[in-house]
Amino acid sequence: MSRPTPDQVLDALRGVIDPDLNRDIVSLGFVTRHTVEDGRVSVTINLTTPACPMKDQMKEEAEQLIRALDGVDEVVIEMTAEVQGAPAQRRIAPDIRHILAVSSGKGGVGKSTVTVNLACALARTGASVGVLDCDVYGPDIPIMMGLAGQPDQLEGKLVPKERHGVKTMSIGYLLDDEKPVIWRGPMIHKLIEQFLADVEWGPLDYLLVDMPPGTGDAQLSLAQIVPLSGTVLVTTPQAVSTFDVGKAIGMFRQVNVEVLGIVENMSGLALEGRIDGAGGSQLVLSTGLGEERLELSDDGRFSTVIDVFGRGGAELLANKHGFPLLGRVPIEPAVRVGGDDGDPLVVSAPDSAIAHSFAEIAGLVARRLAIREHAELPILQ
Ligand SMILES: Nc1ncnc2c1ncn2[C@@H]1O[C@H](COP(=O)(O)OP(=O)(O)OP(=O)(O)O)[C@@H](O)[C@H]1O
Ligand SMILES: [Mg+2]
Repeated sequence: MSRPTPDQVLDALRGVIDPDLNRDIVSLGFVTRHTVEDGRVSVTINLTTPACPMKDQMKEEAEQLIRALDGVDEVVIEMTAEVQGAPAQRRIAPDIRHILAVSSGKGGVGKSTVTVNLACALARTGASVGVLDCDVYGPDIPIMMGLAGQPDQLEGKLVPKERHGVKTMSIGYLLDDEKPVIWRGPMIHKLIEQFLADVEWGPLDYLLVDMPPGTGDAQLSLAQIVPLSGTVLVTTPQAVSTFDVGKAIGMFRQVNVEVLGIVENMSGLALEGRIDGAGGSQLVLSTGLGEERLELSDDGRFSTVIDVFGRGGAELLANKHGFPLLGRVPIEPAVRVGGDDGDPLVVSAPDSAIAHSFAEIAGLVARRLAIREHAELPILQ
């Protein structure tokens, strides 16, 4: 029986187009191995991020194209990934491919919550991920990741504490809870420098930096110490938050940090319920936002969304500045509980709708970085 040659396999794979880069995976150099043994074809496709949202689709397409060749009995496709970055130019932390800040202009909008959930979502795709807590005023990462105690030291370097597959470092591990510290600008600068240079991060694909609120010393220092791959902004939908984020955008522009996109957090509170025996009638719901009439279904069910923090602010901001709205995360008690218990929702309820939203946001960020890095790589024929 005639079998396909390795070249025929490669030719077939030219039919798989990377939807982001608009080029076939062979000329992109993504096919790193292709063998034919009897009727068994084995292929390795090496993408630029394990968090690629198109991974399954591309694998499926490759499999179908090879299966369509004569003489193929079995197709084994291995998907690998190598995150590209430009750390060679980085004096500090050269083993970290991408350093990303998670910031906002305003406090309490969910930066830390978004940071830990995105980090866990990226780690679940197989990426190597770290979280650096630069919030010297309120270091929340230890609690949100369920970690405590002094970090170990190895050859004069601090060893990150690890949980949920994510390496973390925080001033919270090092300070006495009871004693206040007054942080001055140069101290913050030095601390961030040490957290990048004197922590044994090892090779990382993504280091997410949880920032304190505002546009102060920590943001400026971080941008001065290392070239950042960008920042993810977090806002609630309300005007004061988007107004403050607007200022943060201006600051990041000044220091040449790209805004990768915006996450709208606390965007609506879903209410669902049932009134037994009240099928077909109406419920008048009274919130501080006014009265809402809800039709009850035949078995008395209702559902609505209360826009506690308003609606649509992030979209307006994204449109105004021309960067993507990465996703919306509603108000959900389980998100808060996950933070308090140290098990981010992405880990404790990975199949929930909100965990999916976080995974999607993580995928969009990784994809945006991969597209940008890839523009600088050579194209094979
Ligand atoms: N989508 C959400 N649903 C419910 N609770 C949330 C949500 N997002 C965040 N929270 C809760 O709101 C509080 C503030 O969130 P978080 O600490 O992440 O904000 P932050 O922007 O990092 O705050 P700070 O500016 O103080 O650092 C936390 O208690 C968190 O658990
Ligand atoms: Mg925080």
